[in-house]
Amino acid sequence: MATGATPRATATRVEATAVARTNIALVKYWGKRAGDGNLPAAGSLSLTLDGLFTRTTVAFDSTLSVDDVWLGSAPADTDTTARVVAFLDLVRTRAGTTHRARVTSMNSFPTGSGLASSASAFAALALAATRAAALTLSARDLSALARRGSGSAARSIFGGLVEMSPDGDDPHATPLLDASAWDLRMVVAVVGGGRPKEVLSRAGMAHTAATSPLHRAWLDTVPADLAAAKDAITRRDLAALGEVAERSALGMHATALAARPGLLYFRGATVDALHAVRALRAGGANAWVTIDAGPHVKVLCAPTDEARVAAVLGSVPDVTEVHRCRPGAGAELE
Ligand code: DP6
Repeated sequence: MATGATPRATATRVEATAVARTNIALVKYWGKRAGDGNLPAAGSLSLTLDGLFTRTTVAFDSTLSVDDVWLGSAPADTDTTARVVAFLDLVRTRAGTTHRARVTSMNSFPTGSGLASSASAFAALALAATRAAALTLSARDLSALARRGSGSAARSIFGGLVEMSPDGDDPHATPLLDASAWDLRMVVAVVGGGRPKEVLSRAGMAHTAATSPLHRAWLDTVPADLAAAKDAITRRDLAALGEVAERSALGMHATALAARPGLLYFRGATVDALHAVRALRAGGANAWVTIDAGPHVKVLCAPTDEARVAAVLGSVPDVTEVHRCRPGAGAELE
């Protein structure tokens, strides 16, 4: 170095891009246990879908003074940014870096459709951020990290049918059956696209746990539902898996409805779609409904019933989009 020159750190920028697909729980997660780190009160079981994904690029950049978070072509709102910054802080602590990041994230599905999923978002963020920070985590550790962002995101690290354990200090998901191992279909009906946001899962489950007299009873049903679902998967018994999925979803909504005040995620079209699928089933179709913290209806069905399920859902007034999905792969780098 020449005498008198001021040493200057070289600007560094390291980026990585990851894709993660959303997952739909067949045995629902609805409640947390005490402790730090977003710990589920019970296990859950899900199907990762191929069609609905998030692609996220994380660039750690030594010239940035704050994290800069973009969703599509717009800056993220304050709450989303705060949640992403808190997650990046976990990654920075592990990687021993203080660099801020630019995060750009897009969903394959129309934003505002109400399908935006924290599952695919935090799974993609976990993989992209750890890789950009030069951390190489096992899939199991990545799943546990994704859980810190959102409980359901732990499951989107893996493809196909996935189980989330509630146990241990740092719970993680485990793959049960690869996406290619069983040809299932899920038809997603978007109800009333563009309506204002519902009570988000996080707030909804906290309110349910705090006020619903049915919540403890709901949690007590989960181990038996998990065992029945896993047995159905081992036997490739779609009817048995579908029955568990429908009762788990309706049970979750029963606990939420019994909260004070009750949480009502259904719209008229949600109930109409449920009746329509039950009518199809009475006519011999292999199709079962599940519903998350919103009005949309997801139907687990056999490949041979996919077209008629999609047609029936599409004819329900106020169903604004229908997506036909196959089992999808786990999160991957691009
Ligand atoms: C109804 O994973 O969104 O979709 O952990 O607070 O981020 P946080 O909750 P989140 O809850 C998912 C709830 C659900 C059921 C499920 O996916 O198991």
